[in-house]
Amino acid sequence: MRLTPEQMEQFRTEGWLLLPELFTPEEVDVLRREAVAIYDQHRPEVWREKNGAPRTAFAAHTYNEAFRLLGAHPRMIEPVEQVFGEKVYMHQYKINAKSAFTGEVWQWHQDYGTWKRDDGMLEPRAMNISVFLDEVMPINGPLMLVPRSHNAGDLKASHDLQTTSYPLWTLDEDTVTRLVKEGGIVAPTGKPGSMLMFHGNLVHGSAGNITPYPRKIVYLTLNAVSNYIRTPTRPEFIAHQDFAPIVPVDDDALVRYARSHRQAAE
Ligand code: SIN
Ligand code: MN
Repeated sequence: MRLTPEQMEQFRTEGWLLLPELFTPEEVDVLRREAVAIYDQHRPEVWREKNGAPRTAFAAHTYNEAFRLLGAHPRMIEPVEQVFGEKVYMHQYKINAKSAFTGEVWQWHQDYGTWKRDDGMLEPRAMNISVFLDEVMPINGPLMLVPRSHNAGDLKASHDLQTTSYPLWTLDEDTVTRLVKEGGIVAPTGKPGSMLMFHGNLVHGSAGNITPYPRKIVYLTLNAVSNYIRTPTRPEFIAHQDFAPIVPVDDDALVRYARSHRQAAE
């Protein structure tokens, strides 16, 4: 799958691009069911909010077949290879829960800040991909983006170890105010199966979810192979050190898995 020149231009100027309903309901249903089963497991990759609700599950592509297929899906891999002009590997893989009533805030940050400081990534040549597993609505804690902030470079950040259960290099209010005056804020919403691509330096965050509607999103970070991390400090299941290029699966791999899995369960 290739992006059109207009889509490439929107990504270049705005720093983000939404591809609505890129994955079918059949493909997403199986991923949603498996995400819930993963959150029920007690394993080091599943992190919880301070209140005990699941916050994120790391590295599901290494222990779950459906998420492995998603992580090598050509509808996702090919557009990212197109943007970077080279092969990519999986730097990070998380399924963020943002559970009904209990999902907590993600403070304003740039992801490249963490990849550079904690992982020794040379350049912001890694792409964030989010695949919506639930409907993302204006009310259930959508991801908020500051358009064009990817042009601001790597901003000063401080390491927040207090606010949530997840350590994050966060931006101060003056910086966010200045960038929002220039670019505004967008909160892309959409049906399950929609895919959002955003630049590693794009400023983003999300509010808590106090609605009865969960907002599960898979976040994958695909790094250009030549930009592999040089000085990892985080566990392998958070910042991967397998730099082998991803070999895409067939386009129908996920739907075939969904069908065989359904038949096996019947
Ligand atoms: C993130 O920035 O890594 C996650 C944000 C969210 O899930 O809202
Ligand atoms: Mn982030």
